[in-house]
Amino acid sequence: MCGIVGMVNGHPVARDLVTALGRLEYRGYDSAGVAVAGPGFEVHKVIGGTTELMGKVGNGFAGHAGIGHTRWATHGRAEVRNAHPHVWDGVAVVHNGIIENYHDLRGRMIANGETFESDTDSEVIPHLIAAARKAGAAPMDAVREACTELHGAYAIAVLFQDVPDRVVVARQGSPVMVARGRNVAAVASDPSALSALCDDYAALEDGDLAELSNHGVTIFGRDGQLAQRCWQKVEGAEEEAAAGLFGSFTRAEIAAQPVALRNTDAALAGRAIPQAIADAERLVVVACGSSMYAASTVRPWIEKLTGLPCDLEIASEYRTREAPLSRGTVGILVSQSGETADTMGVMEMLKARNVPIVAVVNVQHSQMARGADLLWPTMAGKEQGVAATKSFTCQMLALIRFGLALGLARGTVTSGTLVAVERELAGLAVVCARAEMLEGQFEAVAERLVREGEALFIGRGSAAALANEGALKLKELSYLRAEAYAAGELKHGPIAMIREGSPVIVCAGAGQHAGKSLANAEEVRARGGYVIALVDDASAAAFAPVADEMIVLPGAGLGTLFAQAVAMQLIAVHAAVVLRHPVDRPRNLAKSVTVE
Ligand code: M6R
Repeated sequence: MCGIVGMVNGHPVARDLVTALGRLEYRGYDSAGVAVAGPGFEVHKVIGGTTELMGKVGNGFAGHAGIGHTRWATHGRAEVRNAHPHVWDGVAVVHNGIIENYHDLRGRMIANGETFESDTDSEVIPHLIAAARKAGAAPMDAVREACTELHGAYAIAVLFQDVPDRVVVARQGSPVMVARGRNVAAVASDPSALSALCDDYAALEDGDLAELSNHGVTIFGRDGQLAQRCWQKVEGAEEEAAAGLFGSFTRAEIAAQPVALRNTDAALAGRAIPQAIADAERLVVVACGSSMYAASTVRPWIEKLTGLPCDLEIASEYRTREAPLSRGTVGILVSQSGETADTMGVMEMLKARNVPIVAVVNVQHSQMARGADLLWPTMAGKEQGVAATKSFTCQMLALIRFGLALGLARGTVTSGTLVAVERELAGLAVVCARAEMLEGQFEAVAERLVREGEALFIGRGSAAALANEGALKLKELSYLRAEAYAAGELKHGPIAMIREGSPVIVCAGAGQHAGKSLANAEEVRARGGYVIALVDDASAAAFAPVADEMIVLPGAGLGTLFAQAVAMQLIAVHAAVVLRHPVDRPRNLAKSVTVE
């Protein structure tokens, strides 16, 4: 979370910095700021995003070197004084990560008579660097010295008032890339931020320092020696869903699902599985948020196709549980961003225990994608809305494709199953497109949920897992209270919440134990609940007398699940629109969660 950029250029950098920051706003957007040097030394910070910042920067900043930041608050509220860059004694710093020992450092500095403006952990960094400079260290050495005192995760870019022609970068635990272009040396949390300016980029490794100057980029390893890193071409800005026609990127990304699914399927169909993974005796899928729900929704397919037990583990819990790993375990990490801190933590843990790792990742330059034994990519394209939509359905598809490929390698997939699954996969894009056409009905459901101020999602089997995603989407976009339960669990307690008019969304279809969910819907109705059924054609007749509202979705089997996913995404978007919430940037969230 938080995006950083830095640049040394032959001309004023402020506007380029802010433009690059704009492409990093998915990492946080509660405040933004830049510092530029040479000539002069100027700092500007705003609450809000880069549009506000561009307004401030205008054409007035002359400096040829600069750093910038877009923030997702960890320590300290979204206030200008907590926005980056933080400056002390002519040293300006932007930071992504968390400094765990900032409390002790700050205490020591305050005892020394130093003062602090913010509540952030980051502000100790310029203090440490400035102290080293005062003691005579050159810029690079001062940053190196400061880093020895920092515990935690960081990617930092540092600008010096008295050496205004360079930016120093350091990395430990948080992703950061250096990049080069004609007359520009740059740094950013994500190379796509620099696609308009730079030709190639290199990911820094933990312990690396880099210097950007008019001579280009120089990288030093942890040992202080010059280091070679792998330079790759900066890809042109990916084609992005155009928000214009749809009102929001999120809505446009829902509409882009058919294309995203086709691209993902085309990339994965027929891919082989390496032997080390085909030899698996057990699978453990580790993920967070929507990525976890995508995996839990399609787990039955993975297990059926491979004949292997497939455990599901929430990354933040798994990394601290010290769970025993049975022989032959293969880890499957699922992540849109490929940089979620908890999932990355599990990656390190599994690597240390020699567990082969498959990464189902959308951002293919990410550390997770690069570090896996097998990258099994989703090809959803850039997702600008903070809420996962097209990446979610692509993850479901990719995981089923993985199950199929692994099953083929293990000999657990019959030719009949292969034909049937291929047919279902081939139909998913069309099912999603047809589901989207029912938007008016989803909008009406959203209006009801907003009126009632809450929603309960239930289902059985895969639909129970998918219900969690429905509730998550509604929570994050509309901020309404939303819960999800396996329909059979209602009577074990949650049914006490049902009052007259409580909206309960029931997901049911063939293969989702629709008959049993119908009985649960009856129980809800008998207590005054308002039943909204998202069903397939085969279940419609049975649900008609029970449901207060029923939406008959396209598709059958696997297709029903994808149609239900689209339905729940659109319900959430419309609830947010009714409530006038920012659909693409819900409060308190960020797209990449790079803190624990
Ligand atoms: O990038 P990742 O897939 O690892 O991110 C995991 C979650 O943070 C993410 O899915 C989050 O729950 C989204 N906001 C869901 O819309």
